[in-house]
Amino acid sequence: MMKALTRLGAAAALLLAPSALAQTAVTPSALWSRVQKIMHQHTLLPGSRRYQPGSRTADYYTIDGVNSAALNAVRKAGSVEKTVRYPTGSILIKENFAKNKKLINVTVMIKLDKFDKSDRNWLMANYSPNGVPLAFGKVKPCIQCHEVV
Ligand code: HEC
Repeated sequence: MMKALTRLGAAAALLLAPSALAQTAVTPSALWSRVQKIMHQHTLLPGSRRYQPGSRTADYYTIDGVNSAALNAVRKAGSVEKTVRYPTGSILIKENFAKNKKLINVTVMIKLDKFDKSDRNWLMANYSPNGVPLAFGKVKPCIQCHEVV
């Protein structure tokens, strides 16, 4: 009996896992359409400018975009540097361009409720220029580098 219950518990946990993911209501394609909206609206991260020099070799030029939740947080704080906490629902994107201004990829951060406490609940993603998800979720290389920034 006990054994059966345990097995049942394990099965329930397995069944629960996808719905727990759904609860965050973010799939790679749903996030990409929100990213595209930011790209089309050209809502820039305050203090940044279009095709500014990137800080890494993988991003010769960058365009940093935000959704309204992130924009409001930065405006309220006064600047990006003064923004200590972005609210849930904030999206920050970075369009990364080669030297010839060809779009290479788009890195994305979205703050979700109770997603990844160790990374202040950011879901990290990377997309090809036409929206193919190259990375999505708790992406180690992103998180490791972002811990210091
Ligand atoms: C080598 C270190 C490093 C790695 C790896 C890295 N980032 Fe970043 N990222 C930075 C730095 C530094 C900045 C701020 C300066 C800039 O815009 O270049 C930044 C900025 C950003 C921004 C723009 C918003 C902001 O805070 O300026 C987004 C979005 C972003 N990163 C997402 C990601 C994602 C997603 C990944 C993984 C796919 C990733 N980054 C990997 C260092 C890194």
